[in-house]
Amino acid sequence: MQLPLSFLDAEWIQSPFVGGPLTNAPAPYLRICFDLPDGVQEVVLHITALGLVEAEINGKRVSEDVFSPGWTDYHQRVRFVSYPVTDLLQSGPNVLGAVLGDGWYCGRIANLNRQYYGERPRLLAVLEGKSQDGQPFRIVSNQHWETAASPILANDLIDGEAYDARREIPHWSEPVATTVRWFPVEIHPAPAIALIPHRDPPVRRQERIKGQPLNPDDPKPGRRRIFDLGQNISGRLRLTVRGERGATLRIRHGEVLDEKGGLYTSNLRSAAATDFYTLKGGEEETWEPRFTFHGFRYTEIFWTNPHPAGDIRSVEGVVLHNEMVRTGTFSCTHPLLNQLFKNTVWGMKDNFLEAPTDCPQRDERLGWTGDIQVFLRTAAFISDVRNFFHKWLQDLHEAQKPNGAIPPFVPSVKAFDLPEDGGPAWADAVCIVPRDLYRAYGDLAFLEKTYPLMKRYMAYLAEHKVKDGVRCHPEVDAWGGFGDWLALDGSGRTEGGTPKDLIGTAFYAHNAAILRDSAKILGQDQESETWANLEKMTAQAFRDRFVTPQGQLIGGSQTACVLALHFNLLTPEQKPGAIAQLLSLIHRNGKKIGTGFVGTPYLLAVLEEAGHLDLAYDLLEQEEFPGWLFPVKNGATTVWERWDGWSEKNGFQDPRMNSFNHYAYGSVCNWMIETVAGLAPHEPGYRQILFKPRPGGSLTNASASCQTIHGEAAIAWTLTGNQLVLNVTVPPETEGIPDPGQDWLPVENDTPLPPGKHTLVWKKNSR
Ligand code: BGC
Repeated sequence: MQLPLSFLDAEWIQSPFVGGPLTNAPAPYLRICFDLPDGVQEVVLHITALGLVEAEINGKRVSEDVFSPGWTDYHQRVRFVSYPVTDLLQSGPNVLGAVLGDGWYCGRIANLNRQYYGERPRLLAVLEGKSQDGQPFRIVSNQHWETAASPILANDLIDGEAYDARREIPHWSEPVATTVRWFPVEIHPAPAIALIPHRDPPVRRQERIKGQPLNPDDPKPGRRRIFDLGQNISGRLRLTVRGERGATLRIRHGEVLDEKGGLYTSNLRSAAATDFYTLKGGEEETWEPRFTFHGFRYTEIFWTNPHPAGDIRSVEGVVLHNEMVRTGTFSCTHPLLNQLFKNTVWGMKDNFLEAPTDCPQRDERLGWTGDIQVFLRTAAFISDVRNFFHKWLQDLHEAQKPNGAIPPFVPSVKAFDLPEDGGPAWADAVCIVPRDLYRAYGDLAFLEKTYPLMKRYMAYLAEHKVKDGVRCHPEVDAWGGFGDWLALDGSGRTEGGTPKDLIGTAFYAHNAAILRDSAKILGQDQESETWANLEKMTAQAFRDRFVTPQGQLIGGSQTACVLALHFNLLTPEQKPGAIAQLLSLIHRNGKKIGTGFVGTPYLLAVLEEAGHLDLAYDLLEQEEFPGWLFPVKNGATTVWERWDGWSEKNGFQDPRMNSFNHYAYGSVCNWMIETVAGLAPHEPGYRQILFKPRPGGSLTNASASCQTIHGEAAIAWTLTGNQLVLNVTVPPETEGIPDPGQDWLPVENDTPLPPGKHTLVWKKNSR
């Protein structure tokens, strides 16, 4: 490994404790005792781990970061963090200590056994600074460090943590005598991977939510109690208890309750999601695990020792995710739509932990490319995710295979026995995500950095996946991708529904269009033309294979029509036919949605653009299954993975695939923001802002606001009779473009709008 200068004389160190693919080892303490003269200055601790690390100096935590240094593909890269620590040091004896967790490095990832990247956690650290007279000094990780087992007997991100408070070592990171024996550390040869500074937003504790006991008035609560946070979160418990020394609490986590009011955990699959805490006894003791997190709303706390072993004084949920500044708001007259937006915000918080994951609870938690591809526009509105995605795009860079393939999840791991290519709408995230980041923030770097990846990817598709212009042609691609995942017409999981080669070809054309635009923006006009030609040829191949001259989509599904229309793949003559087909499919389905992960994000936009706003609102406001408000009506606090994760008629869906915290279907919030409220970037980064409200359904007002890179952009409209009054805010250095469409007539024609606050009045256009 090429060590950055600051690490040159440091060595990777580890403790002798090591577990196996199925077994844990205690989290080790590693420490070094050293003397310093008076008045040291400018002292910085550079630290990293293969695994997770929390450092302490003289008994004080060095930082509030959680799960540092985070998740990267440890076969290629690990980040180090630099903390200023002068204030923690003293003249005379000092101790620098670190506790190491298994994390993604040697704990479980998804459904895999432990030890995916390595067998045990390892530390690399340098403490450097100057003495009073300017002489440099360094303390580095090396053979002089010592190690002992911490009270964390087992730790795993997916399975949970076990802590025995009786085994605490008081003052372990302080320069005083401790009661245990310390052993020499082992040196581990430096791995051949990049070591780079950590510049991404860290994971931190973001909120704390009080848990309430179910049945609070139960006079005899017994050994088992369930607490409810009232919100499905990603994080862990902070517990305050009092009880007998040696009593052990078993703490299980779940998203929902079963029919009998017990904790429902079948949908966690192999994730144990269970913590254990053994009391030291005496006074009140407070504990929060360090190296695990769970996706849960409910927790079941069970005293394994006979009752009464003690009592539970307080239960709090600690919410964990990467730091992000919240930027977007939405509200309207419909309480269930407001709750849907809130659930989507939570779905995002719960899944933005080191990678944009599918779900935080079961044995999965992977950076599924398809999920973030559909959700990104909503995410970039809700929070400032620029830095989060600078990191993820680097992960993407590392995940791309030498032949150009993009895997189904990033960071890439060998889980679930999947092909190297993520398939249509998944791997295509390499084109869609940077395009949407550029749209939200106007930062060219997103395109510049990713355009070469897009090109390699398109070359891969051309070589391996396309025949006669058709991607996922059954003759060259037996798998064909995930289809319209979880659509109720059977796409994806079983045969039937939207044909996979139709989805593949539609997205191939869409990718070509993205590359056409990206090349143009990057000043590569000739390349842009090549992509434009590919788009045209692919659209033609799409029509030849999947569309009748009258515009009927073969395999007739809502998603097939939606993709053809949204990606502009039809001739003007074919469009009316495809629209008519879509309408009839929706009507025959009882005016209900029939799309899965792939078609859902575009469905309402397609209907609105085709002049069927009423139907779009019918679908949006639908409270029966299947529809966005069905889970909300049934008490959801996050977005469900499936339209019918639970229903009165059938109870819980198949536990092998039933998360209650998947943001993918929350992508409808993009339509609520841009079309219901009517706030969208017209130029990348909101350099021009489109105010395009389309009131409809039961709504009489709606509003949205966003802290754009230029400042706050906002809209709030109220509908009274035939009159629509809009209050809009245009941030500095931008202009507002009001768009009344066909349905409205501006009383005064005031466009473009300069920065500032404006009130506009539109009258209903009674054509
Ligand atoms: C995940 C996803 C993902 C899908 C691929 C599931 O197991 O949870 O959300 O996109 O597999 O089809």
